Amino acid sequence: MEVIKSITEVMEFSQETRDKGKAIGFVPTMGYLHEGHLSLIRKAKEENDVVVVSIFVNPTQFGTNEDFNKYPKDEKGDIEKIEKEGASAVFIPDASEIYPEGFQTYVEIEELTKNLCGIFRPTHFSGVTIIVLKLFNIISPKRAYFGKKDYQQFRVIEQMCKDLNLDIKITPCPIVREKDGLAMSSRNKYLTEEERRDATILYQALTKGKDAILYHERDAEAVIKKIKETIMSKKTLNKIDYVSIVNPYTLTNVSHIESDVLIAVAAYFGKTRLIDNIEVEINANNYA
Ligand code: PAJ
Repeated sequence: MEVIKSITEVMEFSQETRDKGKAIGFVPTMGYLHEGHLSLIRKAKEENDVVVVSIFVNPTQFGTNEDFNKYPKDEKGDIEKIEKEGASAVFIPDASEIYPEGFQTYVEIEELTKNLCGIFRPTHFSGVTIIVLKLFNIISPKRAYFGKKDYQQFRVIEQMCKDLNLDIKITPCPIVREKDGLAMSSRNKYLTEEERRDATILYQALTKGKDAILYHERDAEAVIKKIKETIMSKKTLNKIDYVSIVNPYTLTNVSHIESDVLIAVAAYFGKTRLIDNIEVEINANNYA
């Protein structure tokens, strides 16, 4: 596996791959890899001749008081994991090459970023779109893989590709969870033992909400109330940013539930902000 640090070199690698008629599957990450990331690499491997993974802790997607400076890193361990999955190359660029002095271009996805994390992290998604667009331009993949853990991010990237006529297929992949239900995240490392135990409430609360809908609750506020009460039972819960029930395509709030919805949550355990979500399909089979 090639470990590539410069933009020119990875562009050459990508050009040579495409010249051979081979399709590139791309998995962008910020490193400190866990099974969630590896599941994307596996999916990319299944569907493409060559897999490229990037590791870049992208400064433009962090707010001023967020965890950019303490984001966990394990470059050596990450490279080993990626190689074991059979990827062909890992791209680990330097921030100074990605954002040289004078850099000033961003991409705004107007509607999809108005709700959920967009409210609480107002500059986050323009940082995500610019880095992903740059990486797409540098690597020119045929397909790219995103986790539904960051559901809003997946929809934002999908919309960007549509609006900018990028010929890249975006594939959403299922959320990988720990045995006790906690969604895997590089940020789980920040949790104290007690916070880690309490954090399992997120998935339990989402599941409770989903069950209520499947048992015919149609009032979104009632479901949200139940979920909030469940989460608030935990001592280390510090703050709930949101519990929202949204249309899974537009990400706008739903008040009366009559078609498929996404229940999404963001909450702090201690100082650590966690997000999670669950999809709820309303169809005949779901009626108890
Ligand atoms: P990062 O948080 O490292 O995540 C990289 C990819 O892994 C994202 O698509 C994310 O949704 C996916 N992922 C994370 N945890 C997952 C889980 N438990 N199950 C399934 N997939 C999971 O997301 C980013 O980095 C950045 O915003 C990035 C897209 C790389 C742009 O900087």
